[in-house]
Amino acid sequence: MKVRFTVNGEAVAVEGHPFERLLDVVRERLGATGTKEGCGEGECGACTVVLDGRPVLSCLVPLAQCAGRAVETVEAIAAGPARDLVERLVEAGGVQCGACTPGIVVTAWALLRDNPSASREQVREALAGNLCRCTGYEGIVRALATDGGEPPAAADPAATAAPAHPGNGAPRTLDEALRRLAAEPGLRPVAGGTDLMVCEPEDRAGMPGALDLFALPELAGIRELTEGEHAGGLEIGAAVTFTEIRRSPLVRARYPALAAAAAVVGGWQIQNRATIGGNAANASPAGDSLPVLLALDAEVVAVGADGERRIPYREFHTGYRRTALRPGELLTAFRLPPPPPGSRQAFRKVGTRAAQAISKVVVAALGRVDEGGRFDLFRLAAGSVAPTPVRLGAVEAAIAGRPADEATAALAGRLAAGSVTPIDDVRSTADYRRFALERVVRRMVLDLAGTASS
Ligand SMILES: Cc1cc2nc3c(=O)[nH]c(=O)nc-3n(C[C@H](O)[C@H](O)[C@H](O)COP(=O)(O)OP(=O)(O)OC[C@H]3O[C@@H](n4cnc5c(N)ncnc54)[C@H](O)[C@@H]3O)c2cc1C
Ligand code: FES
Ligand code: FES
Repeated sequence: MKVRFTVNGEAVAVEGHPFERLLDVVRERLGATGTKEGCGEGECGACTVVLDGRPVLSCLVPLAQCAGRAVETVEAIAAGPARDLVERLVEAGGVQCGACTPGIVVTAWALLRDNPSASREQVREALAGNLCRCTGYEGIVRALATDGGEPPAAADPAATAAPAHPGNGAPRTLDEALRRLAAEPGLRPVAGGTDLMVCEPEDRAGMPGALDLFALPELAGIRELTEGEHAGGLEIGAAVTFTEIRRSPLVRARYPALAAAAAVVGGWQIQNRATIGGNAANASPAGDSLPVLLALDAEVVAVGADGERRIPYREFHTGYRRTALRPGELLTAFRLPPPPPGSRQAFRKVGTRAAQAISKVVVAALGRVDEGGRFDLFRLAAGSVAPTPVRLGAVEAAIAGRPADEATAALAGRLAAGSVTPIDDVRSTADYRRFALERVVRRMVLDLAGTASS
């Protein structure tokens, strides 16, 4: 396929495979070798470029999704708008090796462009996806942060992203997309590509065509539901990114557990591309938003050639990495019922490090305490503890009606740990997962009871 877009303001037309990595296009086809390859799997940030205003990982962007878009690489950024920033990095001892620095400059420039007075905490968060193994972070933070104090209210790094969904590429409507899917069974839906692009080059080469889900307006946006059984709730398009979710005032106000989950999916560059629909369709038991969708009693909207289906999210994950989606169907949206009046939500993720870590255990809960001090509502869901994300119905039943106190919290933790089937794998052991689940659930129940502060 021939894809036309701009790189550093210059129009280019690149003939290539739809799943060729933008990283290879800029380096090998266009000679912009300032963009580096480190891990090739989205982990290190060395390949960061700016795509339509947002820092993204070029090793995870397929060529097909570049159509009509604007790419900026470190060559233009460092020689132009980030010239002063590069000098500051040099002076503060924030420039170390040539593999990591270009990606750091691009991410840092994108952060400071929209938030020139970023705090140390904000700099650290924005750069969480740019790894440096020589531990040069202090010099970098010193060069970029203007203070060590509280972050300014409007300066969430996620809130600096440019709007997604520019509507380029073909097809451009859901109907057209479904027709193409039916006619070309090899066509692969791709949203952020942050799961799909992490594969062997020969697997990528074996995917004959890409269906760009960001080009479909039906899968974009967050809407209030004003009528029907979920009136007062929200509909979140499947191609909504975690950056959009965490910055959405509606999500933050009504579903703080979902906003919290969105904020810990990978680093900033991952959140700028990774979608909630991709998280669910990929169906990893470790997906961070999945226990939240379970605890919120979400509903999936799936559309195929035979029309639209509504699937309770509890029935969506049918087995290890399997979902209720049928061949040719697309997940188009999640419908979230309004949170029960007076209820509170909680979310916790246990990973190897604070950012950019796949969960060892991830938990979401929703609870309400009545006037008599007892739980009259309690929902609990967990991930990374079974082949699919799970609602822990037996724990919920045991806790409902009990006093909101330490003994109930301890009981919930014990019951939760006893009711899951985790495995040993490279990230953790089954024993540690049970231990972590018990501690997290105990703490969460206290949070929901209002007897703990965090
Ligand atoms: C470095 C790194 C860190 C990560 N950290 C985390 C983390 O902390 N927490 C976490 O949960 N995940 C994490 N992930 C995994 C990934 O980012 C998420 O699962 C993300 O939500 C996937 O969304 P996507 O839009 O990128 O999906 P894609 O890669 O575009 O798609 C994934 C799969 O779902 C299918 N698909 C996508 N959308 C639809 C749809 N609407 N309908 C039907 N099928 C669809 C695709 O065909 C593909 O098979 C990480 C990944 C990387 C590379
Ligand atoms: S090369 Fe490491 S994130 Fe792309
Ligand atoms: S700057 Fe490359 S390892 Fe630290």
